[in-house]
Amino acid sequence: MIEEPELNPAIVGATLTTRWLGRAYRYRPAVDSTNDQMKRWAAEGASHGSVLLADYQSAGRGRLDRRWDAPPGTALLLSVLLRPSGWPAERGAWLTMLAGLGAAEAIEAVTGLPARLKWPNDVLLGEGETWRKAGGLLLDAALDADGGLETAILGIGLNVNIPAGALPVAATPATSLLVALGRPVARRALLVELLARLERHYEAADAGQSPAGAWAARLVTLGRVVDVTAAGRAPLAGTAEGVDEWGRLLVRDAAGQLHAVAAGDVTLRGR
Ligand code: BTN
Repeated sequence: MIEEPELNPAIVGATLTTRWLGRAYRYRPAVDSTNDQMKRWAAEGASHGSVLLADYQSAGRGRLDRRWDAPPGTALLLSVLLRPSGWPAERGAWLTMLAGLGAAEAIEAVTGLPARLKWPNDVLLGEGETWRKAGGLLLDAALDADGGLETAILGIGLNVNIPAGALPVAATPATSLLVALGRPVARRALLVELLARLERHYEAADAGQSPAGAWAARLVTLGRVVDVTAAGRAPLAGTAEGVDEWGRLLVRDAAGQLHAVAAGDVTLRGR
């Protein structure tokens, strides 16, 4: 992939439409993980809304300690630092919701492709009848002494121009915008749109408006029969009936009992 200057600070800074999100911005050709780099920058005093983006990660992290890989220059790999003032820890789930909404809306705005979400943190693109994973979100949060959210590092990885042959092989089949659209997508346009949407959603949430309804409306998981697996709990099968304010998936089993699932892997039955 050709080295693109399009994600350099000067060019991104001139294109951003946000007021505060991404106004402090670092671009790195290669890092271990943008979330880990952001953690270091946060310790040095990075401000609320700082963004760190890399063209390549040698140790990109996915949920549940999995790897997150993309060839250099083919993806959007970024971490957003938020210092939510007065947010209780439970509201951390809202941040994943906001990022999912922002990512799905940005993809739709830039490509015209319909984008959906899979509980808890996958960004999906439709290919015919099936939905494939085009991105993922990883929240690393730290609490203050009172149990409130002190810092939240929101990692966002979107498979933008990854060719079919280089897509990761994973439990949820992967795709990229390139594969789904049939042509490459400008990463800067997508980044600018993503940050604009995320800023808007964050401000609404900071004013007390829950993103859970809008998030639930984009989840392909709801209404489906699912299998849930999670470390330390018995496998669960049932119908995903909804989500709650804390982002937990509400699954009703065959005996009619409702389970609130906070973390785990979900497989959709059928299709
Ligand atoms: C998942 O689907 O399991 C979450 C993937 C999150 C990947 C992004 S890429 C940018 C940021 N830095 C990381 O190391 N991980 C997240």
